[in-house]
Amino acid sequence: MLYNTLQLWLSDLATDFLPYKVEAMKVQYSIVCVLDLLAALVSGANLNVSGDAVTTRFWDCCKPSCGWKLKAPFSRPVQSCGIEDKPIDIDAGTGCNGGTAYQCSDQQPWKVNDTFSYGFAGAFIKPELTGGKIEDAWCCACYQLDFTSEPLKGKTMIVQASNTAYDVTSTNRFSLAIPGGNTTSHDACAKQYGVDQRVFGTESEGIGREDDCDNLPENLRSACKWRFEWYKDASFPSVNFKRVPCPSELTDKTQCVRNDEAELKGLAPSPAPLHEPSFWVAALGLAMTSLFLV
Ligand SMILES: *[C@@H]1O[C@H](CO)[C@@H](O)[C@H](O)[C@H]1NC(C)=O
Ligand SMILES: *[C@@H]1O[C@H](CO)[C@@H](O)[C@H](O)[C@H]1NC(C)=O
Ligand SMILES: *[C@@H]1O[C@H](CO)[C@@H](O)[C@H](O)[C@H]1NC(C)=O
Repeated sequence: MLYNTLQLWLSDLATDFLPYKVEAMKVQYSIVCVLDLLAALVSGANLNVSGDAVTTRFWDCCKPSCGWKLKAPFSRPVQSCGIEDKPIDIDAGTGCNGGTAYQCSDQQPWKVNDTFSYGFAGAFIKPELTGGKIEDAWCCACYQLDFTSEPLKGKTMIVQASNTAYDVTSTNRFSLAIPGGNTTSHDACAKQYGVDQRVFGTESEGIGREDDCDNLPENLRSACKWRFEWYKDASFPSVNFKRVPCPSELTDKTQCVRNDEAELKGLAPSPAPLHEPSFWVAALGLAMTSLFLV
């Protein structure tokens, strides 16, 4: 905003005081260059985001927050599913509020080897790390989580942020999507799977023992057991996180790929300066300056 006002003001100044036009143009050009640089830096700020975070667990069966249009610049929102666990229309409302869309069962964690697992998470990253952006910055981005607390020290996950964990905003957080890992007051799981909500365990805790995983719908059992085996039923383990390019293992399930993935991989230059109107103002300014100088 300030940026555009400044440009307008400088253009006015240039037309009102013709003799000073060249000087004004030169000043404008320099200011524009500096502002463009800043814009490029700020736009890149959510690419290489990293820090430390706490983790929690959730499995509320709700349509994931990144499953709605316009949450971020991406190919399409995170896939949601109907009660038959079949992909459902993007615009379908959430089963946690009278709608028919739920979290697809395959957006669950799985072990690759003893030190590495894939999964999905509800993210919250503090705005000072994302240039002030919220879901725009993390929806469908992937993060490497290196666990820093026992019993998981030395283990790593790569998760895709398919959801948002808004209820705590004082710290970076990844709430790992683990079936039976933490119910909420919603009855969405009962509706989605046609079971008693209690098979998903108690509020804030989820189920208490690995054996209880066998009461869950069949396609959720292995990920429920993953919590007691690979994840060692850890309680709020801490992590160092950093954004990484999304592996197709994860995006194949959500169908959601962010537009800035290529830039993150270094395959595309930052598009910011070219798309900024200031680029053209600067170009025009430069052209006119040279006209006046000849
Ligand atoms: C992000 O970090 C990687 C390596 O840490 C670097 O190669 C890349 O240029 C960085 N990208 C941006 C946009 O800063
Ligand atoms: C369960 O979810 C609630 C709400 O996000 C959270 O406050 C709580 O810490 C979670 N419990 C676990 C064990 O992750
Ligand atoms: C576990 O899998 C990851 C990802 O494929 C790989 O980078 C790592 O080397 C593997 N670790 C072991 C101990 O096999």
